[in-house]
Amino acid sequence: MEKQISKLLERARKGIESASSLKELDEVRVRYLGKKGEVTALLKGLGALSPEERPAAGQAVNRGRKEIEDLLAGRKVVIQGLEAEQRLKSQVVDVSLPGVVYDRGSRHPVTRVMGEILDIFRGMGFSVHQGPEVEKDYYNFEALNFPKDHPARDMQDTFFVEEEVVLRTHTSPVQVRAMEKQDPPLRIVSPGRVYRHDYDVTHSPMFHQVEGFMVDEGVAFSDLKGVLVEFVHQFFGHEVPVRFRPSFFPFTEPSAEVDMGCVMCRGKGCRVCSGTGWLEILGSGMIHPEVFRHVGYDSEKYTGFAFGMGVERIAMLHYGIDDIRLLFENDVRFLKQF
Ligand code: PHE
Repeated sequence: MEKQISKLLERARKGIESASSLKELDEVRVRYLGKKGEVTALLKGLGALSPEERPAAGQAVNRGRKEIEDLLAGRKVVIQGLEAEQRLKSQVVDVSLPGVVYDRGSRHPVTRVMGEILDIFRGMGFSVHQGPEVEKDYYNFEALNFPKDHPARDMQDTFFVEEEVVLRTHTSPVQVRAMEKQDPPLRIVSPGRVYRHDYDVTHSPMFHQVEGFMVDEGVAFSDLKGVLVEFVHQFFGHEVPVRFRPSFFPFTEPSAEVDMGCVMCRGKGCRVCSGTGWLEILGSGMIHPEVFRHVGYDSEKYTGFAFGMGVERIAMLHYGIDDIRLLFENDVRFLKQF
């Protein structure tokens, strides 16, 4: 019996010493001390011994078990120490490494200018409405008094999606959509993307416009002038001169182009204003009775004005940017300046 136990102890000691994790150590414990373990089997076997042999054998097995328990406890402490050390090693923080710097973002200049434009009109009682960028020919042209084959359709190099569906070439179709839904009085501004087949220093195939219009009884050209002069003054400064020049749009009559004194040369004449001292910034006019007819407004009772402006152009004048393409290249070094 003694011999058997010392052999068993020898094996258990080896097993315990070679266990390198708590899991492995527990497997060793189960093998010897578990319910079906070898030591347990020996204890069960004591009953088969003669009464004389039994006490000595019992003590020997118990000593063996005690010794295995001590070995297990000792090894457990060692393994815990090793594991803690490992954990510390793998979690070392090198405080001398350079940190990760996250660049702070900023609003795109077009977004900023759009927001400023809308704020000024909100301040004058206009509310913001939006319309679809993929638009029916009817809203983009027909209801705005561009009959089929009208030469004015050539003014706007249209992208067609289908026979009667286009990428809107301007934000004016929102006038028609809004007036179809609501009766006067109406004071609306409508920002959004528009598309034209055009690409050079001052034209981009996608750009932004802000449309505005007001309809009520007794709205006059003087209201149009008052609102637009106030807008230019709030946006560019109260000292900036503004002038109205006769123009043509199929959906307004009379129509006017709005110029402001050149912000670069202050009217002296420079490259930006082609030597004229003036910059064209808006199209506008009194809404044509044909447009009212399409939306079912009584043009004997109501009058209104409308205007439209290109946001990129205003942003370029505001920030002194001379190539529209800079706005869409998304070079962070450029965009960060604003
Ligand atoms: N929609 C016109 C354009 O894109 C601008 C405009 C709007 C003119 C409203 C008059 C009235 O050129």
